[in-house]
Amino acid sequence: MAVIKKICCIGAGFVGGPTMAVVADRCPNIIIEVVDINEDRIKAWNQEDLSRLPIFEPGLSEIINRVRGKNLYFSNEIEKSIKTSDMIFISVNTPIKKNGIGAGETSDLRFVELCARQISEMAIGHTIVVEKSTLPVKTAQTIKSILDSAVKNKTGEERSFSVLSNPEFLAEGTAIENLEFPDRVLIGGDDAVAIESLKEVYLNWIPKEKIICTNLWSSELSKLTANAFLAQRISSINSISAICESTGAEIKEVAHAVGKDSRIGEKFLRAGPGFGGSCFKKDILNLVYLCKYYGLYEIAEYWNNIVKINSWQKKRIYELVVNKLYGNLSDKKIAILGFSFKANTNDTRESPAIDICSYLINEGAYLKIHDYKVSESLIKDTLSKSFIVSPNKREKIENCFSFKNDVYEAIKSSDAILILTEWDKYKSLDWDKISKITRKPTWVFDTRVILDIKTLKKFDFNLWQLGFGE
Ligand code: UDX
Ligand code: ADP
Repeated sequence: MAVIKKICCIGAGFVGGPTMAVVADRCPNIIIEVVDINEDRIKAWNQEDLSRLPIFEPGLSEIINRVRGKNLYFSNEIEKSIKTSDMIFISVNTPIKKNGIGAGETSDLRFVELCARQISEMAIGHTIVVEKSTLPVKTAQTIKSILDSAVKNKTGEERSFSVLSNPEFLAEGTAIENLEFPDRVLIGGDDAVAIESLKEVYLNWIPKEKIICTNLWSSELSKLTANAFLAQRISSINSISAICESTGAEIKEVAHAVGKDSRIGEKFLRAGPGFGGSCFKKDILNLVYLCKYYGLYEIAEYWNNIVKINSWQKKRIYELVVNKLYGNLSDKKIAILGFSFKANTNDTRESPAIDICSYLINEGAYLKIHDYKVSESLIKDTLSKSFIVSPNKREKIENCFSFKNDVYEAIKSSDAILILTEWDKYKSLDWDKISKITRKPTWVFDTRVILDIKTLKKFDFNLWQLGFGE
C-alpha cells in the first residue's frame, strides 16, 4: 500500500472545498492542494475575511481557519499540483448536457475529460485518480482510457494510474457534519492496493465498518441510486400533499404517521415546493439515460416520473398563487422569501424558486426577493437565464424584480408573501408588524409548511399552506 503524502483536488466548488477542508483537518500529515481554473474562486478561498468564502456552509470557516496555510492550500497551479501529488480527486462540475446525443438527460463530461487529459499529460510515477463528482455509470472507464492513452507524460516521464470511484454523499447545509460523521464511505475499484491507500486516508477519522468497498460500477450506480431513492421520497410525499389539500388531511400528520413505520423511516418526508440542488434531477436523468441505453424503457419511464412530479409541484404552486390572487398578477407585488434550493446554503442550482419566480414574472407580477445568503447578482443571473421567462422579459429582468436585504422591506406593500426556502428566521417573523405594512387583502403562501397557522390567524391574512385541506 502506498502511503499518501500529498493530495491534489481539482475543483474548488461545493464538493471539493468542504471535502478537502475536512480531510486536511483530520489528516494533519497529508498536504492538500485544492486547484481550480477559476481565479476568482481561488482568490475567494484565500481571502482573509472568512465570512466571505465562496461557499457558505455551517462550520466550514472555522475549519478553514485551522488548516489553511498549514496543510491545506488553494491555488490555480493545476499542472504543478498534478505533478507532485500521489492522489488526485476530480471534483469538477458535471452539468446536464445541453446539446447533442443525450442532451437534457446525461451529464456533460467535458470538464472531467479535460481534467483526465491534464492528469495524463502532467502526472509522474504512479498516481491514484479518484472520481468524486457525481458521474454517469461507466465514467471511470472513460477516465481510464484517457489516462492510459499514452505510455509517457508530456515531458517523457513514465507514469501509471489507478482509477477509483469515491462518490460524495454530503448534503449542502450539513456538509461538514456529513463529512465528519458520514453514514458510510464508498470506495469502488479493482486495484486492491489503491483502495487500501484511500481507505487509509479515511481511517484517520472514520470507523472501518463504515467504509464499503465495491467494484467500480457498483460504486457509481450506488450513488445514482441513493439520490434517486431520496428524490423519489420527496416526489412521493409531494404527490400526497396535493391529495391532502383535496381531502382535508394534513401533510405533516400523514408524514409523521407514515414515517413512524421503521421500515419507512422519518427522514426526507418533508413536503415542499419540489427538490432542487445540483444532484437529484441530474442523477435521475442519468439513470433514465442509462436505462434507455440498455433498452430498459419501462424502468426509464418509472424514474422519469419522479422528475415529472417535481416539475408539476412547482407549476401547481404557481397556478395556485395566480388563482388565489383573482387570476391576475399584473400590477401586483409578491414578496419572495428565500431563493436558495434549501436553507443554510447560498446555492441556487435547480432551486424550485427559479421556476416558480419565472412563472410569476411571466404572469406580470413584480417580485421583491429576499434571501439570507443568496446574492442579488446571482438571482439576476439565474432569472435572466431561465427559459420559462419570456425572451423580452429576460432581457430586462431587472425591471421584473428587486432584491431586498431586509425581509420586511421585501414584504412592505406586497399583495402576497410566498415562502420558498425554509430559513429558520422565517419561522419567527413579526406577523403583527407585517399585517400593518402589506397591501390588503394579503395572501401568505407557505410552501415549506413552516408557519404556525394559529399565530397567523390572529391577524388579517389569507393563508395557504402546502398540504392542508380547507
Ligand atoms: C443531495 C443528497 O442528499 C446528497 O447525499 C448528495 O451527495 C447530493 O444531493 P443536497 O442536494 O445538497 O444533497 O440536499 P438535500 O438535503 O438532499 O435536499 C435536496 C432537495 O430536496 C432540497 O431542495 C430540499 O429542500 C428538498 N427536500 C429534502 C425536501 O423537499 N423534502 C425533504 O424531506 C428533504
Ligand atoms: P460541485 O457542486 O460539483 O462541487 P461546482 O460548480 O461548485 O460543482 O464546482 C466545480 C469547480 O470545478 C468549479 O469551481 C470549476 O471552476 C472547477 N473546474 C471545472 N473544470 C475544471 C478543470 N478542468 N480544472 C480545474 N477546475 C475545474
